Amino acid sequence: MIRVPNHMQPEYPIRTERLLLRPLTVGDVDSLLAYRSRPDVCRYVPFEPMDRQVIGERLEAQWASTALTDEGQSLTLGIELARTGELVGDVVLFWHSREHRGGEIGYVLNPDFAGHGYATEAAHALLRLGFDEFGLHRIIARLDERNEASARLARRLGMRQEARLIHNELFKGEWSTELDFAMLADEWPAHRAGFTYGRQRGDTDTPITEVPTRRNH
Ligand SMILES: CC(C)(COP(=O)(O)OP(=O)(O)OC[C@H]1O[C@@H](n2cnc3c(N)ncnc32)[C@H](O)[C@@H]1OP(=O)(O)O)[C@@H](O)C(=O)NCCC(=O)NCCS
Repeated sequence: MIRVPNHMQPEYPIRTERLLLRPLTVGDVDSLLAYRSRPDVCRYVPFEPMDRQVIGERLEAQWASTALTDEGQSLTLGIELARTGELVGDVVLFWHSREHRGGEIGYVLNPDFAGHGYATEAAHALLRLGFDEFGLHRIIARLDERNEASARLARRLGMRQEARLIHNELFKGEWSTELDFAMLADEWPAHRAGFTYGRQRGDTDTPITEVPTRRNH
């Protein structure tokens, strides 16, 4: 039987090996400003460096949502290090279509915390949310080809590159070549076991070991 996504209200925080994912709050403004104001962080994302006011407005509008209740909505969650309580980035799950059960993920990390697999671990938790809890059929990630760290992340998750759209968008004054990645619900079980969940705050920050998964590339 095909499950039709209807409503997703996760229980927070969502725990992963080293992280807590949870809705953003006004208490996160300084942490968000630390990376969302940086031009290097915003180079390949569809927003400009943000100031305190823009972040405050977002917190009151689209980032205030804690559930997905209809297609066209998005759920943005902060990435908190379980060990220290620091907010190190954020991830987003878009619900594009109820009929086609389609979604999309996005991720932004404070560069001071890059290179530890935190963004991959958080994005993996979003795939789990989208497939296991929400019943999505297909989840995509779209990125600029020059954003190599993002492409590596999508591949690490086990997503398949399906398209390379040459110069399809005039992005921040330059032609952007878009890479489209995707994973189907049928493919997810082969990648689900890559990370474990349920450890508690205060756990050590031992790097997780990724279980070898089938690669499509
Ligand atoms: C895209 C982005 C989130 C990637 O950040 P990242 O730090 O490379 O990603 P992760 O946190 O998952 O860390 C992965 C890196 O840590 C390494 N790593 C170390 N320990 C690890 C672990 N336990 N598990 C997984 N990876 C680990 C990986 O090898 C990888 O390095 P590599 O890509 O050089 O091989 C980051 O560059 C970013 O925020 N960019 C700006 C915003 C942006 O462009 N977002 C994407 C829009 S499409």
